[in-house]
Amino acid sequence: MKSDFLTYQAQTTPHPLNFEVARAEGSYIYHKNGKKHLDFIAGVSACSLGHQHPRVKAAIHKQVDTYLHVMVYGEYAQEAPVQLCKLLASLLPDSLHSTYLVNSGTEAIDGAIKLARRVTGRTEIIAALDAYHGNSYGALSLMSLEERVAPFRPVIGDIAFIKFNCEKYLERITTKTAAVVLETIQGGAGFIEPQRGFLKKVKERCQEVGALLVLDEIQPGFGRTGKLFGFEHYDVIPDILVMGKGMGGGMPIGAFTASYEHMQLLSDNPKLGHITTFGGHPVIAAAALATLQEITETTLIEDTLKKEQLFRELLIHPLITEIRGKGLMLAALTPSVDITSQVILKCQEEGLILFWLLFEARAIRITPPLTISEDEIREGCAILLKVLDQISI
Ligand SMILES: Cc1ncc(COP(=O)(O)O)c(C=O)c1O
Repeated sequence: MKSDFLTYQAQTTPHPLNFEVARAEGSYIYHKNGKKHLDFIAGVSACSLGHQHPRVKAAIHKQVDTYLHVMVYGEYAQEAPVQLCKLLASLLPDSLHSTYLVNSGTEAIDGAIKLARRVTGRTEIIAALDAYHGNSYGALSLMSLEERVAPFRPVIGDIAFIKFNCEKYLERITTKTAAVVLETIQGGAGFIEPQRGFLKKVKERCQEVGALLVLDEIQPGFGRTGKLFGFEHYDVIPDILVMGKGMGGGMPIGAFTASYEHMQLLSDNPKLGHITTFGGHPVIAAAALATLQEITETTLIEDTLKKEQLFRELLIHPLITEIRGKGLMLAALTPSVDITSQVILKCQEEGLILFWLLFEARAIRITPPLTISEDEIREGCAILLKVLDQISI
């Protein structure tokens, strides 16, 4: 399978991990060679309830036995997507009332950009330096790293950048700005939390000039930081909330949520202003609904902060210079890019799955399923510490 994978399936890097998956269950992924690997990554924050969660599986099976795709998004009323959007509305502030379901995070970002331009009649979108919002053209246009964007130019126009957590850039947001798009916690940049009321100040500036605040919660959302959505920690409410990844409990989904009045604008002038065939797919929506129910009906969200504490207590080592992030969205930094890579690869040999962050190459990503147990955290941290002990600088 390894060589077929490299030959027939298009690749994203010259050096994929090429881990041959046999099956996965709970917090573990089993290699074809029979070896069991503890998963500290959860499909890069996507498998919020671990692998094969019984509630998610039951919801998928029930829907598969009822109907699959029946119609493009937005025409027919189907139980699972309607209940999902309704439950989200009941859990979110009143101003976030209407949800548009799409197939991925990047599509949700594109939808949010379109909605912001449609609502304000303005074109300028402001994003943060070193942000990551996805790879479709809209989301890619919000990337400041020229080496990643240059080969694909031209991207969409009228994009400007501000520095995350840097107040002096707020003046850059003006009456020409349609929206400021920010990750609530910067992911690829190294799990950087907003400081000194930054998000609140951005929102206030947006209100002054009539721009919208779009928060990308594709990674922190759905309970990962100890609240259902990360913005709840920072005394701010976005005008458009973008979600994805963990929302689907391992199934592909994205969504953007706004007020009913704003969202209505996508349905007229032009009609079909934003359409998708598979967005709101009943099987995927059933999985997302079961995921949201499980996350909100159990103690998973509050447990996340206890589990963060356990990670911080256990991961004390001279080669860990800092632990960034919140809840189960953590990054352990080592003194060098080389050490980080050695640790990630060696841990995989030892049965612990870790991964990199996109732009902060000294960071070891730790984003396990929210369902991980304390014993599993101890087991994985013991492997990580053992590997760190073996690293010679
Ligand atoms: C913060 C953030 N925004 C957007 C995306 C894009 O989501 P997707 O890969 O589902 O298109 C990601 C994916 O890593 C992300 O972490």
